[in-house]
Amino acid sequence: METKQSNNDLLNKKINKALEGGGSASAEKYKKNNRLTARERIEFLLDKNTFTETDQLRKHNCQNFGMEKKQFYGDGVITGYGKINGRLVFIYSQDFSVLGGSMSKVQGEKIVKIMDMALKNGAPLIAINDSGGARIQEGVESLAAYGDIFLRHIKASGVIPQISAIMGACAGGAVYGPSLTDFVFMVKDTSYMFVTGPDVIKTVTHEEVSQEELGGAKTHTQKSGVAHFATSDDKNCLLMIRELLNFLPSNNKEILVSKNIENKNLGPNNELENIIPDNAKKPYDIKQIIKNIVDDSYFFETQQSFAANIVTGFSRMDGQNIGIVANQPQVLAGCLNIDASRKAARFIRFCDAFNIPILSLVDVPGFLPGTNQEWNGLITHGAKLLYAYAEATVPKVTLTARKAYGGAYIVMSSRHLRGDINLAYPNAEIAVMGAEGAINVICKKEMKESKNPEQTKTELIKKYEEQFSNPFVAANLGYIDQIILPKDTRKHIVQAFDALKNKRDKNPAKKHGNPPL
Ligand code: HXC
Repeated sequence: METKQSNNDLLNKKINKALEGGGSASAEKYKKNNRLTARERIEFLLDKNTFTETDQLRKHNCQNFGMEKKQFYGDGVITGYGKINGRLVFIYSQDFSVLGGSMSKVQGEKIVKIMDMALKNGAPLIAINDSGGARIQEGVESLAAYGDIFLRHIKASGVIPQISAIMGACAGGAVYGPSLTDFVFMVKDTSYMFVTGPDVIKTVTHEEVSQEELGGAKTHTQKSGVAHFATSDDKNCLLMIRELLNFLPSNNKEILVSKNIENKNLGPNNELENIIPDNAKKPYDIKQIIKNIVDDSYFFETQQSFAANIVTGFSRMDGQNIGIVANQPQVLAGCLNIDASRKAARFIRFCDAFNIPILSLVDVPGFLPGTNQEWNGLITHGAKLLYAYAEATVPKVTLTARKAYGGAYIVMSSRHLRGDINLAYPNAEIAVMGAEGAINVICKKEMKESKNPEQTKTELIKKYEEQFSNPFVAANLGYIDQIILPKDTRKHIVQAFDALKNKRDKNPAKKHGNPPL
């Protein structure tokens, strides 16, 4: 009886110690910067009182560099499982207050255990990263821990959604793991990601760069595209993760059941008649179309600040979750370039892996010309988008709102790449290229020989436009299934997805394809 009581006391003592993390001094440091501690992050993210912690009492066994005196329960990471909006998730949250959240053998084992459970049980993994990378005192054992984690991220890829939050200064191995996951969140001004930090860069390349400039939220959501979301603070970051999860199934076998909404609201929407300017050279905001056709005008955009010439994100139509990919005429005239191709390809592959139907809104004058694009591999990167669309077997509905020229016409979920239902507005222009460019190529001689080249050019452009700059040729060939009026867009798209809801399609049996990575 006495032993039982003393063990209970001992357990309580140990738990209380574990809850302290790296100690109160460290917790104060967090509060000063308006950040949450590793434990608070979990509590805030999960539904109230749903968190169960695993391996709370583990400690490292390292004896190097006086490490035997730096022992903490949990060893710098809190692991476990709980619920988000009533659905099971597995989670780990690194604790920077314990040895900089650095990766040890024990920390790795704890994380791997949670990852294996997530995969076995078909539930999303959420990784909250706040770590200085491999624990230097543990040498190759800490590297091995990273290897074990990376392997699991890769095995779980396409099976369960994996979401990373970067919530501190993360370096080395602490950033490769997140880059293998599906969505990466960062917090403005307090989170950083880099393989090697500013000091190492200065030594090796003599460049001077701040942590913020090198790997802050702005850098990774605008320049590199490594992260998908830049959030204002810890709480905002965690709330956005909850929101994103509402759009995702728990695993690749689950199809999120659509909630049939009471008021489908399929009547005409006249606002849609006035969004696209009459002048085909004038830009407009494609998001205005999105907001006018999806349920509750609600669009959860991903990678908003990266490659804004293509828009990606999630919405619902008649209660059904969908992924949207849309050219944005407001940025670079909606041209496809390297970044846009990479961004959209990855998004499409995510949707396809997790049974999320794809709506494509097309207004694209072509691929972006230029030496910078060509020399940096536009051909390969553009092919990624082509590959992703063609490989995707989820229901695909495409609406050509205005331009669909050349290779970009084929790429953007055309009938030829297994687009299931392809719609177009009456003023859509589906052709090899725009009228002026085409005439400059095919009527050079005529214009040269003309007494009035300007007038001849105007006439030829008119002729070309009449013949090619419309959706009727493509509709006549069956490449476009239906030409619809803008005001009826929602009705037609809802009906199209409804017609495809039991779609079955697959790719030939193979080990895996070889996309142009
Ligand atoms: C052991 C570490 C550590 C690490 C930080 N700490 N990083 N301990 N291994 N990798 C400890 C510090 O010694 C310190 O302990 C405490 O954490 C807080 O660190 P500070 O430096 O005081 O914090 P801050 O000034 O906020 O700077 C954060 C930081 C910096 C930018 C992340 O700590 C840093 O540069 N760390 C090293 C980054 C790095 O090079 N990691 C290895 C990458 S190689 P005390 O006891 O003083 O509080 C790698 C290989 C894997 O990860 C590659 C796989 C592909």
